[in-house]
Amino acid sequence: MKFIINGGKKLEGEIKLLGAKNAATKMMVASMLTSEPCTLINFPDIGDVRITEELCRSFGSEIKREENTLRIHTPEIASATAVSLSRRNRIPILALGPLLARVGKAEIPILGGDRIGPRPVDIHIAALTAMGARIEVLPDRYIAAARGGLRGARINLRYPSVGATENTVLAAVLASGRTVIRNAAVEPEIIDLVKMLQKMGAIIEFGTDRVIYIDGVKKLRGVKHSVLPDRNEAVSFACLAVATGGRILARDARQEDLMTFLNVLRKIGGEYEVTGDGVAFYRPKDQPLRPLNIETDTHPGYMTDWQQPLAVLLTQADGISTVHETVYEDRFGYARDLNLMGAEIKVEARCLGELPCRFKNKEFNHGATILGPRPLRGANLVVRDLRSGIAHVIAALAADGESVIDGVEEIDRGYERIDERLRALGADIIRK
Ligand code: EPU
Repeated sequence: MKFIINGGKKLEGEIKLLGAKNAATKMMVASMLTSEPCTLINFPDIGDVRITEELCRSFGSEIKREENTLRIHTPEIASATAVSLSRRNRIPILALGPLLARVGKAEIPILGGDRIGPRPVDIHIAALTAMGARIEVLPDRYIAAARGGLRGARINLRYPSVGATENTVLAAVLASGRTVIRNAAVEPEIIDLVKMLQKMGAIIEFGTDRVIYIDGVKKLRGVKHSVLPDRNEAVSFACLAVATGGRILARDARQEDLMTFLNVLRKIGGEYEVTGDGVAFYRPKDQPLRPLNIETDTHPGYMTDWQQPLAVLLTQADGISTVHETVYEDRFGYARDLNLMGAEIKVEARCLGELPCRFKNKEFNHGATILGPRPLRGANLVVRDLRSGIAHVIAALAADGESVIDGVEEIDRGYERIDERLRALGADIIRK
């Protein structure tokens, strides 16, 4: 499927944020920790949720959707083997904890690497092994067992991985005894998952310095929970407002989830207003954009999913900007696409900043230098991954002329009805 976009129009109006993809899918998995029904509200209708629905159904979940409410109930684990189609996203590995807790075994396909780097799961495996799981790694799948159940453990993550933190929390809530996770990730989506688990009866505490304490309980109950608004959507719409010179109110956006981004936006010359309804983003009249050096990091740093939409703005800034990507090895494929549209971005293996970086002295192209301002013109592009896809859309809406963006199913994985919602802001975008 394609988007055909005619750019150059100011986008103006209001857009409601949907529930965060990176919390919603984990909450579906968390619901499998109880045999009681769960209701998730503000739930997005996106591709990744559909894939996760298929995964949960294969384990025995009954799922019903009414608009943006998802009811999910797993009275029994009918099978502990994940369907192989679920390899299409990163969620199956998170089902290990709930499956081991409820039936003492699990079989999960090996997750493919994807277009942003190899994405290993060694940290997940090490944590679950420390909790008493035996995990066999076969060429195409993991076979896990914990016959006597999982037990609490002291776990020091070698990197604050989002997925590994979630996996360990999901495994620990029903394990016997206390689990201490050091160097844990503390992204807002993780906090929201913990809030849901707490309502289900879990005992989870955040200490200082990235420590999470979990006291295992015997049983969890059903829950009604509203998914936090998607901060990645908020940032995408913010960049869209500034790139097109319009004004967009991201309804329900939460300042506390966006503080690092809001500072960056103001430094480059964009503006925002925190209103009672959300956050409105705009570019003050006649304000030129300023270049900036930025480094991605785990929360509360500048998020890796926010560098692609920001890069579009930096192509319009007056001077030289740099982006140092320290989370993923290979997240600058889109630079070639923006260059086709007239941008001037150079990507190299050198670290372009000061943060400690796992990719130092390795051959990963994780540093980008952006020379601006360069006018953007329409082009034919193919989406590489979700976040670079939204950068394509933002660039195309800001550019002069027509762009054809192919492979938009990848964008649909994380943004619900994006074309329809952008049309309501005045965008000229058609799906074909
Ligand atoms: N890593 C390892 N070993 C592991 C786990 C991770 O080396 O066992 C490495 C990864 O290869 C990567 C880094 O650690 O280089 C960060 O990975 P992390 O586990 O933190 O990320 P994730 O859980 O796989 C989630 C989001 C990503 C988001 C990152 C960072 C989901 C489904 N995905 O990925 O979102 O970029 O956290 O915040 O929650 C997206 O939405 O487009 C997306 C890619």
